[in-house]
Amino acid sequence: MREKKPFYITTPIYYPSAKLHIGHAYCTTIADAIARYHRLAGDDVFFLTGSDEHGLKIQQKAEEAGIQPIEYTDKIVASFQALWKRLDISNDDFIRTTQKRHERVVQEIFRRIYAKGDIYKGEYKGLYCTPCESYWTEHQLDENGCCPDCHRPVQEVAEEAYFFKMSKYQDRILKYIEDHPDFIQPASRRNEMINFIKQGLDDLCISRTSFNWGIPVPTDPKHVIYVWFDALTNYLTPIGFLDDPEKFQKYWPADLHLVGKEIVRFHTIIWPCILMALDLPLPKKVYGHGWLIVDGDKMSKSKGNVVDPNLLIDEFGADAIRYFLLREINLGQDGNFSRDALISRINSDLANDLGNLLHRTLNMTLKFQDGVLTAPQGESEVDRSLKVDAMATVQAFATGMEDMKLSDTIKTVWAFIGRANKYIDETAPWALAKDPAKKQELANVMYNLAESLRLISVLISPFMPQTSERIWNQLGLTDAGKAWSDVQLEDAETWGGVPAGLHVGKPEQLFPRIEVEKDEAPVANAKAAKKQKQAKQEPKTKKEEHLPEGIITIDDFAKVQLCVAEVLACEPVENADKLLKLTLSVGSDAPQRTVLSGIAQFYQPAELVGKHLVLVKNLKPRKMRGQLSEGMILAASDGKALKVVEVGMPAGTEVR
Ligand code: MSP
Repeated sequence: MREKKPFYITTPIYYPSAKLHIGHAYCTTIADAIARYHRLAGDDVFFLTGSDEHGLKIQQKAEEAGIQPIEYTDKIVASFQALWKRLDISNDDFIRTTQKRHERVVQEIFRRIYAKGDIYKGEYKGLYCTPCESYWTEHQLDENGCCPDCHRPVQEVAEEAYFFKMSKYQDRILKYIEDHPDFIQPASRRNEMINFIKQGLDDLCISRTSFNWGIPVPTDPKHVIYVWFDALTNYLTPIGFLDDPEKFQKYWPADLHLVGKEIVRFHTIIWPCILMALDLPLPKKVYGHGWLIVDGDKMSKSKGNVVDPNLLIDEFGADAIRYFLLREINLGQDGNFSRDALISRINSDLANDLGNLLHRTLNMTLKFQDGVLTAPQGESEVDRSLKVDAMATVQAFATGMEDMKLSDTIKTVWAFIGRANKYIDETAPWALAKDPAKKQELANVMYNLAESLRLISVLISPFMPQTSERIWNQLGLTDAGKAWSDVQLEDAETWGGVPAGLHVGKPEQLFPRIEVEKDEAPVANAKAAKKQKQAKQEPKTKKEEHLPEGIITIDDFAKVQLCVAEVLACEPVENADKLLKLTLSVGSDAPQRTVLSGIAQFYQPAELVGKHLVLVKNLKPRKMRGQLSEGMILAASDGKALKVVEVGMPAGTEVR
């Protein structure tokens, strides 16, 4: 049996600078599924999420709105909490960096590290944009060396600031990462971090005097503690760092900090250095998940492709969204969200596979046995094989969840759902019901189906808690004395938990099928879908232009977005002689892309790495050989030879 243990899991704390989007919901949903799995497995879980509320940006937003920063963050943070509630996020605490309990922790940490001599006062030099009141680094400036926001000139300024001696810990953190292969995951991010540290760590500026929305330095209150020193320490506050040694002992070091890939560096370098300075053990694991992109593109307000999770929940319900996010995307990689793909998963996996299994099972039990399941006697070959598959699925579920392979685990559970549906076809209960001599055989089949659904209800509970509970209740298990909230993984580890004599309930539809009109183009969000519908209803006022065949207008061409993409990696695709898989950078702040291209007969993978190619950026992503291809690279070909189009411009540059 697996040892039961305390399990401390965290998400990043979110900036209340804007409303949360589906990418944030993705991160929190992953953490929630993992936390729910550990509770199911009997662990003593502490699951933390929260809000990161200080800093100049928030202060400015509040000023723009003519209110105090705390009034501003109160409102936005309330919207975070409401969203997490709607999405069934089961966090045990919600930390706000503006809470008194956190201020005490941050100031105490500052005091301790200062007393140790690892914090000193120095001078921070930076490039400052006065109208925006923002500091920028050289590489953040626009192409004219001006502020990237307002495009006005910046000035070099210096301000007094406190620094944390990160450089002192450089060798220790490097050794730690090298000695603990599990600390940073996935492995590719670990290599990135090792390379980063090897370039040398600078001391970290941890205070500012140019704004005041922050926690004051205890001994020098004209300074406020700056960003990461305030944010990362949130993980210590709710588990009793200052006031509950027993609790702290139990949950620290954290088992898992789940973070987006762009903040892995802060969690695996700055955070460990702070902990080393405090003589505290380091977290056991930092997992950097990929980004959720929308129809192949990074979400941004200016592109108008930000997907609001609240609208999706309104339309499809929390469980469908959770299912999609957890099933569709491999944790370490970027993944694509599209409304089309969501609807297709709902229809095929949820309404069809799962919904039908429950509906058929309950209906037939009501019809053929007055809704009562009796104890099975004897078993056929096909019954035995169903049981073996069921037990193997429970095993694979536990292993998959321990390894954080969420998508693969869901696929395994759905393979079993498929198996159970097939069992209905193989055993044909409607035929057994016609033959009085097959009464026991029929009873066995109905029992086995209900038992399969009992196990399925347990196994989907981390991913879709509402659906899990609905199945449990419809099977009649709550009425039979076992509350869904008391269910443990152990309950699924042996076959036969459905009590003989159980009265099943009436089937209620789990997921209605979503009807999509045939000519409806795929769109990312509900707003866009609404627009599309309206557009269809509105009569066209502009006269259609008739062009000679093959001729397009400039507007037609403008639909194609081209940009420069740098090849970061390239490899052959298994069982596909013509295809190469390219990992592309389309700019430092855009997610990486994977493109499959039919050029394997003309290039060795290594020849392409480092080349700057032209990418069709807004091509609808499609799956080839089971892998997502997000765009197309341009090449010239006369049918015999082929050459990719190369340009000497940085990745991300638009091509027109
Ligand atoms: N406040 C810091 C974190 C401090 S943790 C001590 C922060 N906040 S954030 O609101 O900008 O981002 C929070 C998390 O949301 C990050 O892990 C980030 O990767 C994640 N995501 C933001 N957009 C995302 C997607 N499009 N897809 C997946 N995750 C995304 O950083």
